[in-house]
Amino acid sequence: MSRYSRITGTGSFLPPQRVTNADLATQLAARGVETSDQWIVERTGIRARHFAAPDVTSSDLGVEAARRALEAAGRQPGEIDLIIVATSTPDMIFPSAACILQNKLGIAGCPAFDVQAVCSGFVYALTVADAMIRTGSASKALVIGAEVFSRILDFTDRTTCVLFGDGAGAVVLEASDTPGILASDLHADGKHVGILCVPGTVSGGKVMGDPLLKMDGQAVFRLAVGVLEEAARATLKKAGKTEADIDWLIPHQANIRIMQGTAKKLKMSLDKLVVTVHEHGNTSAASIPLALDEAVRSGKIKKGDTLMLEGVGGGFTWGAVLLDF
Ligand code: UT7
Repeated sequence: MSRYSRITGTGSFLPPQRVTNADLATQLAARGVETSDQWIVERTGIRARHFAAPDVTSSDLGVEAARRALEAAGRQPGEIDLIIVATSTPDMIFPSAACILQNKLGIAGCPAFDVQAVCSGFVYALTVADAMIRTGSASKALVIGAEVFSRILDFTDRTTCVLFGDGAGAVVLEASDTPGILASDLHADGKHVGILCVPGTVSGGKVMGDPLLKMDGQAVFRLAVGVLEEAARATLKKAGKTEADIDWLIPHQANIRIMQGTAKKLKMSLDKLVVTVHEHGNTSAASIPLALDEAVRSGKIKKGDTLMLEGVGGGFTWGAVLLDF
């Protein structure tokens, strides 16, 4: 009998502080930085984002999302035998956010590690967990995307600081006789490192370089629309499916124009697009599981629906996962 992996529960968590575009514009104006609700909505679709309190970490957000996913799956933390956290904003340089989160769940022993693929992190992590389940190294995994991007934003740079937010989403992925995950397709091209990066690091007890996010938005935009279409088509081909088989498209939530552009290239109705960017902003590796959980809990996504998840971001990295929910 073949062994597959299937999502059995989803969960998400947003820090309580909701910051509207108007709130942000007022805060930025105090620093002499000019922006407006109109510009942000027209160019990105974002209306609000959530920011974590200064002492709240990615593992704090991630563990809340994980608890909700476990509850939805009807599982106890002690049943989990693999934890993967996708994050670019871990609590510390090491150990991983996954190890810290494991301890917060009150469990020990199972492998726990972070995946660093920026905004593609969740599709990378889901693909790794699927492979480990199919080969028998795990049977009940927690796969989490958790970020506090507010920590790495330059609030004097209006071209980036209005775009991102904090949050976490999680799924429980379990071994199953039936799929589940149908196919995935991951890629990276390191020659584009410079178009989206946080170039700083720590050395000799000091921050070396600039520890704040830099982005060439137009270069990222151009690359994103092309690779998201390619990854979706490659994944459908591997699964022997077509665009018509997709019930819901859940792309990385960065910009409504990129998301709608991808849906149009795939000749999909915009009604099949799951959109949370207006309320969350870009939460990097957390954006896909956050959108997935919202669509599940609102009753949009139903058991048996076919979902296309798609990530794209720094690295440059991109990829897609097609699954039956
Ligand atoms: O998570 C990884 C994936 N990331 C992405 O997918 C982001 C991809 N890129 C984008 O979403 C878009 O490129 C942005 C939203 C970042 C920018 O939108 P755009 O339509 O490409 O705008 P632009 O960079 O061409 O800027 C247009 C104008 C400029 O003014 P001038 O030079 O035309 O006078 C900017 O200075 O808008 C100005 N501008 C702003 N104005 C008000 C840039 N940011 C702002 C702002 N408020 N926040």
